[in-house]
Amino acid sequence: MLGPNKAIYGEITRYVEIIVAGMPFEVPDDIPLIRAFQYIQFELGRMTCDWSRFCFNDTIGCCHFEFSLPEQTEGEWGRACCQRVVEGLVVHTLPKSCVLIYEAGQPITSSV
Ligand code: FES
Repeated sequence: MLGPNKAIYGEITRYVEIIVAGMPFEVPDDIPLIRAFQYIQFELGRMTCDWSRFCFNDTIGCCHFEFSLPEQTEGEWGRACCQRVVEGLVVHTLPKSCVLIYEAGQPITSSV
C-alpha cells in the first residue's frame, strides 16, 4: 500500500494536530504549512486549492495566511511556504483559493 509521497512530505517521523479554520487535522510534523495544506487535500481529502497560483518558494507572497503559534494570543500573517508545522498551530485564514471541504465535498470555509 502506498503511503504519503516522501518526495513531497519528506520522511514522516510523527504526526501532530493543527487547527485549520476551527477543525483539527493530523499532519506530518515540521513540514512547511503549504505542504500540510497539500497533505490535507491529497491525503485527507478535506481541502481544495488551486496549486497553479503558488510559487512554492517565497517569491511573490501568494500563500499569505493568518495563523497563531500555541504561545500566541493574537494571530499574525505569514507565508505558508515559510512557516513550518508545529503541534497546536492554528490557521485562522487560509491562502487565497484554498477551501476546506466536508468529507462529502461541500465547502466549509473560504479563503482571503
Ligand atoms: S508559495 Fe509563493 S510566496 Fe509562498
